[in-house]
Amino acid sequence: LAADDSVPVATLLERPEQMIRAPDQARNSRLPLPGELYLPRINSRGIEFGDRMALDSLLQAVGSEVLPTAAVTNATEKDAAIAVALARTGFTFWSRTSADTRATALERAAELLEQRMPRFIALLQTEGGKTIDDAVSEVREAVDFCRYYAIEGRKQFGDGLSLPGPTGESNTLRLRGRGVMVAISPWNFPLAIFVGQVAACLMAGNAVVAKPAEQTPRIAAEAVALLHEAGIPDTALHLVQGDGKIGAALVADEHIAGVVFTGSTDVARSINRTLAAKDGPIVPLIAETGGINAMIVDATALPEQVADDVVTSAFRSAGQRCSALRLLFVQDDVADRMIEMIAGAARELTVGEPRDPATQVGPVIDAEAKARLDAHIARMKSTARVHFAGEAPASGNFVAPHIFELQSADELTEEVFGPILHVVRYKAADFAHVLQSIASSGYGLTLGVHSRIDDTVETVVERLAVGNVYVNRNMIGAVVGVQPFGGHGLSGTGPKAGGPHYLPRLATEQTVTINT
Ligand code: SER
Repeated sequence: LAADDSVPVATLLERPEQMIRAPDQARNSRLPLPGELYLPRINSRGIEFGDRMALDSLLQAVGSEVLPTAAVTNATEKDAAIAVALARTGFTFWSRTSADTRATALERAAELLEQRMPRFIALLQTEGGKTIDDAVSEVREAVDFCRYYAIEGRKQFGDGLSLPGPTGESNTLRLRGRGVMVAISPWNFPLAIFVGQVAACLMAGNAVVAKPAEQTPRIAAEAVALLHEAGIPDTALHLVQGDGKIGAALVADEHIAGVVFTGSTDVARSINRTLAAKDGPIVPLIAETGGINAMIVDATALPEQVADDVVTSAFRSAGQRCSALRLLFVQDDVADRMIEMIAGAARELTVGEPRDPATQVGPVIDAEAKARLDAHIARMKSTARVHFAGEAPASGNFVAPHIFELQSADELTEEVFGPILHVVRYKAADFAHVLQSIASSGYGLTLGVHSRIDDTVETVVERLAVGNVYVNRNMIGAVVGVQPFGGHGLSGTGPKAGGPHYLPRLATEQTVTINT
């Protein structure tokens, strides 16, 4: 918030009733029929909405996938250095291929991912603990990243941009790969973010050394095998498995040209420090990190819609999305009713094994995550008001959804990466303070607003530096090419994944002036 913005927004809530907009009923026509998933889809015509997928046959195919036990060998620091050295060789070839050749390989990868959807769903469920809905969306997102970057890459990396010049001179601005990019990806989207980072780096003409999260190595291994099969040369894409130490060794390598990272703010800072301390060329970091994501619900919001959207945003994917809702601000006039409805909707959630199609909230990623979340729940139970404490299977890494009410947003100082919602009431007269406390967290990833007053929505959008704002809907599940995703401040550096400005940031620019 700018210091001189003395906020008159509280008065907005006293506007006459005709200022309150009715909801758009057309929205409901997009809902899936029972037994179907509704998805957007990128194809050669662009993005289409309304693709529906029958679940029954898909579940059968997933059920018949056999995943024999596999062992993963972690790389040594020497392996990491060898991968970078080989990738440098790969870069000389790959960077000289045409944008069309690179895009064609990504499109082939998209086709293969679609053909092998049941296998990747089985892997996502087994290794990543994903529910069927989450796993399907994730494969689709990986497919979309490949197709989207192929489309953008053909446009942006083709012939270059012709610029004006005097008679006898031609000027062209073109984009070229930077060199060897290190791509470090998280366990919460082990396929979509992994493939998204790699596909973008490759499309921009870079060679890639990819280091996936140590919790989900197998998904990454199969994705890399698929990309090689699709036509990405072995030398241009290397996979290095291991924990943070291997990631740190790659980042410290003197021959890399940039780092694309998705994960915690702390690790992003440490990568930044390593890059800054190195001699040699200055290499960029593109980081997508976390957030203490808030939603504001005022007295004009539609309670049923709020309950549905809050439960989806806070608890689906077991709250393990960087976009997930952590902190809900509810206007006090409607708070009791809203919280009761939200708790009621949360009570309906089925928590359980990811491979059970009825499951809506699966496990958290591992025992360490569960222990951290259980400790937070125990702390909250003694300091906050408990509105809802769900139930979860006793064995396994399950954490039941919880809703706690805090006296003040200041009590939540860090991102809690699980199915735990924190609620704070606000008075209309204190609306400016709500905006202030969201801004002062320093994060800026996602934000939800439920209000039927356009001026309130505009004020919130205007005043808060947040990457993705969702109005009168849930705040997770950004769609590639539709809701480019990524945040500001402690939440990341930009550019937005799945948006038109992503590829150029992975490239160098070259202006060629020819005296004809
Ligand atoms: N891109 C994901 C989403 O929008 C978060 O990581 O939910």
